[in-house]
Amino acid sequence: MASSVDKLSVLLLLIVSSLVVAACAGNFYDKVDVTWGDGRAKILNNGELLTLSLDKASGSGFQSKNEYMFGKIDMQLKLVPGNSAGTVTAYYLSSKGSNWDEIDFEFLGNLSGHPYILHTNVFSQGKGNREQQFYLWFDPTADFHTYSILWNPQRIIFSVDGTPIREFKNAESMGVPFPKDQPMRIYSSLWNADDWATRGGLIKTDWSSAPFTASYRNFNDDNACVWSSSTSASSCSSTTGSSSNGNAWLSGELDTTNQERLEWVKTNNMIYNYCNDSNRFPQGLPPECSMA
Ligand SMILES: *[C@@H]1O[C@H](CO)[C@@H](O)[C@H](O)[C@H]1NC(C)=O
Ligand SMILES: *[C@@H]1O[C@H](CO)[C@@H](O)[C@H](O)[C@H]1NC(C)=O
Repeated sequence: MASSVDKLSVLLLLIVSSLVVAACAGNFYDKVDVTWGDGRAKILNNGELLTLSLDKASGSGFQSKNEYMFGKIDMQLKLVPGNSAGTVTAYYLSSKGSNWDEIDFEFLGNLSGHPYILHTNVFSQGKGNREQQFYLWFDPTADFHTYSILWNPQRIIFSVDGTPIREFKNAESMGVPFPKDQPMRIYSSLWNADDWATRGGLIKTDWSSAPFTASYRNFNDDNACVWSSSTSASSCSSTTGSSSNGNAWLSGELDTTNQERLEWVKTNNMIYNYCNDSNRFPQGLPPECSMA
């Protein structure tokens, strides 16, 4: 008697926990639409894995079903291994229209054994030119790593495996537009950019290595505010959750430890910073650079 009750409760526990796992995994069937690539983008393993591929005929891409107005959004990526020179894997938030806002991660491939460049940019109202580039402190093709965008009304923080690599602060008080009035969607694509991506375009894509494949898993938008175009309002799921601190990210900033980690990345891993490029801005560096 007791043992059959135990078996029943074990069974129920298994069912409940597999439902919880399915709900937490950020199932790609529920969260994204494949938008191009004619079968080159694939959702696999019951929605837990997504792969993009690129060959000589085409790349591929997907976008989130939701639009967001602020959020902390995580994705794990494993980049094209081996000779990925000429390829670019882009993962970004963007709004629409000619005055669009955009928050970019772009991974510029390289020859086997040479480092990827992680290229970042922030566009507000159609204006970008705010590039910062980094070498990563690990091989991004060997395993999955988490790339996160925290976007709240005061700042944008780019993080890699929880380490902040870039902060873009709201500098509206200096006349710099900040992305905060247009909802954005997640987009990602794998494409050929061998006219500029690797050593400035000197190294071309080697199509004998095609197809090139990048993989995605564990998309997490639980801490993002989903935009509803019918009500022109966003709702942040965790305000109704049990944790009263669930929306701390909405006013979050870097604590001292994370400021130190950001400085460490700037010192050791940053290879280009537009705020350091006075030749490019002979009239003076962009105003937000004085806040950094
Ligand atoms: C590729 O490797 C070269 C040589 O190691 C390096 O200079 C360059 O920054 C790397 N990345 C890209 C995307 O060109
Ligand atoms: C900043 O500028 C200095 C001087 O031009 C240069 O040596 C350095 O590499 C630059 N650093 C970055 C991250 O661009």
